[in-house]
Amino acid sequence: MRTQVGIIGSGPSGLLLARLLHLKGIDTVIFERKDRDYVEARIRAGVLENGTVEMLRAVGADARMNELGIPHDGFALAFDGRMERIDMAKYAGTGVMIWGQTQVTRDLIRLNLADGIDIKFDCPATAIEDVDGSPVVVYHEDGVEKRCTCDFVMGCDGYHGVSRATVPNNILKTYEKIYPFGWLGILSDVPPVDHELIYANHERGFALCSMRSNTRSRYYVQCDKDDHVDNWTDDMFWDELRRRLPAHVAEAMVTGPRLEMSIAPLRSFVAEPMRHGNLFLAGDAAHIVPPTGAKGLNLAASDIHYLSNALIGYYVDKRTDLLDSYSEVALRRVWKAIRFSWWFTSMMHRFDDDPISHRLQVAELDYLTSSEAGKTVIAENYIGLPL
Ligand code: APR
Ligand code: PHB
Repeated sequence: MRTQVGIIGSGPSGLLLARLLHLKGIDTVIFERKDRDYVEARIRAGVLENGTVEMLRAVGADARMNELGIPHDGFALAFDGRMERIDMAKYAGTGVMIWGQTQVTRDLIRLNLADGIDIKFDCPATAIEDVDGSPVVVYHEDGVEKRCTCDFVMGCDGYHGVSRATVPNNILKTYEKIYPFGWLGILSDVPPVDHELIYANHERGFALCSMRSNTRSRYYVQCDKDDHVDNWTDDMFWDELRRRLPAHVAEAMVTGPRLEMSIAPLRSFVAEPMRHGNLFLAGDAAHIVPPTGAKGLNLAASDIHYLSNALIGYYVDKRTDLLDSYSEVALRRVWKAIRFSWWFTSMMHRFDDDPISHRLQVAELDYLTSSEAGKTVIAENYIGLPL
């Protein structure tokens, strides 16, 4: 089998890249180890930066988002018993779109299949060979090992994929910070407690009030990194969430049964370089952020913005300069988002039992939310730094 661009992974990175290339007549094949139902059932974050929204519009994957997505111009920081709103529109010129990654993935799969893009579900890539020449994706289909020769291979296979592992250890450099806590999340068909998101710093730990729609809410509380969902009843979750919120918010909280409850670990991770020969890494394959800044999906989208432009430049204009600069250009934006996500996580979570730690966080939040410059810093990072 042969194609121009082999893509490993049918998450947001792989699906968006395949669609952008298809619209320019560039052939791709996506190799996905899971089945379609599994991929479409993943519960993921739901905040889209404007750049991500524009990319979805550019590939015609915005119809349901335009109808059902919720534009937000601000969000609240809750601390010390009070709430301070960050007006993104005022301090950064635009807001964000509340639209679940699950929906993004479903729309892109449906559109890509309708356009004849070959998404090989249940076809795990087991190796990538000859990356310095015409790279070959070795994959399994119906239990048979097969090979696909490509011009380029895109590692869009997430943190646990095969692509990053293909880069030799003497070339790959990784950076990692593992946080000493996790996020316990609940999805429930109850109306959101507020019309915007609330990020709460509390001495008991962090909490987040988010949503999927006006009838479906997504809430999180910081938990021990070794905690387990089985330790939590729905009532225990709601009680702990309300303890960490300002009184008027806790009183307004509508509770209900879980549709889903899970614990996510938090880490910051970057792998460099994001290119090795004719293998390119994008999205979670190259970097992981703690979800505090809602950057995971949006960083994947900005990688794909750079990578699709580079591949289109190669096939349409016979340019190689954008391919050559991809890793450096993508990593500059990656590291700034990694920094913001680390900084926001550090400011909002309980790290130790030392009373001064919490007081220093409250002082930082008090300063930032009472400063025009402080609110600008938070707003411009949250909406996403320029591409
Ligand atoms: N062969 C084929 N497919 C693979 C392999 C493999 N060896 N390994 C992993 N995959 C698939 C996974 O099943 C998954 O569908 O690659 C896909 C990777 O998708 P994501 O993990 O969603 O990564 P990405 O597309 O970069 O999107 C990043 O997704 O996980 C969230 O928080 C993350 O919001 C961020 C976004
Ligand atoms: C979510 O809705 O799941 C969500 C929102 C904002 C975040 C993280 C997760 O920062």
